[in-house]
Amino acid sequence: MIRLSASPADLERAAGIIKAGGIVAFPTETVYGLGADAFNTQALARVFEAKGRPRFDPLIIHIAGMEGLYRIADFAALSPGNITLLEKCAAAFWPGPLTFVIPKGPEVPDLATAGLPAAAVRFPSHPAARELIRLTGLAVAAPSANPFGRLSPTRAEHVIESLGEKIDAVVDGGPCSVGVESTVLDISGEVPRILRPGGISREQLEALIGPVFGAASGPVPSALTSAAPSPGMLKSHYAPNIPLVLHSPEEMAALPFSPDEGFLFFSGKNRDLWLQRNHREGTACCIALSKKGDTMEAAANLFDCLHRLDNAETLPEEGFPFRGHPGLRRIHAETLPEEGLGAAVNDRLRRAAALS
Ligand code: TXA
Ligand code: MG
Repeated sequence: MIRLSASPADLERAAGIIKAGGIVAFPTETVYGLGADAFNTQALARVFEAKGRPRFDPLIIHIAGMEGLYRIADFAALSPGNITLLEKCAAAFWPGPLTFVIPKGPEVPDLATAGLPAAAVRFPSHPAARELIRLTGLAVAAPSANPFGRLSPTRAEHVIESLGEKIDAVVDGGPCSVGVESTVLDISGEVPRILRPGGISREQLEALIGPVFGAASGPVPSALTSAAPSPGMLKSHYAPNIPLVLHSPEEMAALPFSPDEGFLFFSGKNRDLWLQRNHREGTACCIALSKKGDTMEAAANLFDCLHRLDNAETLPEEGFPFRGHPGLRRIHAETLPEEGLGAAVNDRLRRAAALS
């Protein structure tokens, strides 16, 4: 695996590797993706293999401009209403953390969509991602660059630790700013629905296009949709190696301190109150996702904090992890208010907890 920077010369090199059928991890504003030429089935097969991802779980196709959309989508199969909706959402949120599921055009290989008649497409805003995709002259299929079912990567180091030699290169563009994956909005059926909560909140979408089904609002009436449920939304996903238990803020506040467990709070205030109650100083295994209790900041820190707790060593009495100690036994995490990006963070935490 070659480690590249986001310099123009290195992005050229990364684009060359993708054009030649290689697989390259690259930063986006949400999480790092593992990119391959979306039209090259052999390259796509390598992505599935490197991730250990089942073939029934389709990939998001990344584009670097609206013209890419015309190559991926079959506009003739979209209702006029949904075309308007797509145009409105794209004008408001693209480039950015929103993915559309739309009827796929003939050029898109079945492997990319796992045989589904619809494709997922996203125009990321991260400058290195945009430039890389532009330089390939292609569309780039990219799932998150982590082994299937594990924590998503928000730093190049996360990718290197978990996929290392299985991939050809990684472009290091520093930490991702949004920190949770894109919102997946399905407009291939009659009504729009959220298949996965993510970087664009339900509130943002609904302010623009009115009520949207899916995710927190409960199941979509089957008469209203012909599309299959998102195949990637398995119950256990985004999981650390050690068990994670999810708590309400009240439950979390009442937990006793334990030196071999990790504690992940929403806000600095909640963490500090808990430390006081337990007569403790700050410790490295007791983390607040956002000092000021902001859901956007919490989302940006989520996966990095989970990676840190997952790899932390147990605390000696003084309060800092030191080498040679075994890892933590368990992570306790506090649910966020179910608003804004809090919904996406809670979704990831619930899935991480489902494995425990
Ligand atoms: O932010 C993101 O979306 C990141 C970055 C790299 O762009 N990518 C990402 O990809 O999260 P992945 O593969 O980890 O998750 C893609 C999600 C899965 O839940 C998958 O099932 C769903 O999108 N998806 C992809 N294609 C679909 C399709 N044709 N129909 C329904 N759901 C689809
Ligand atoms: Mg993923």
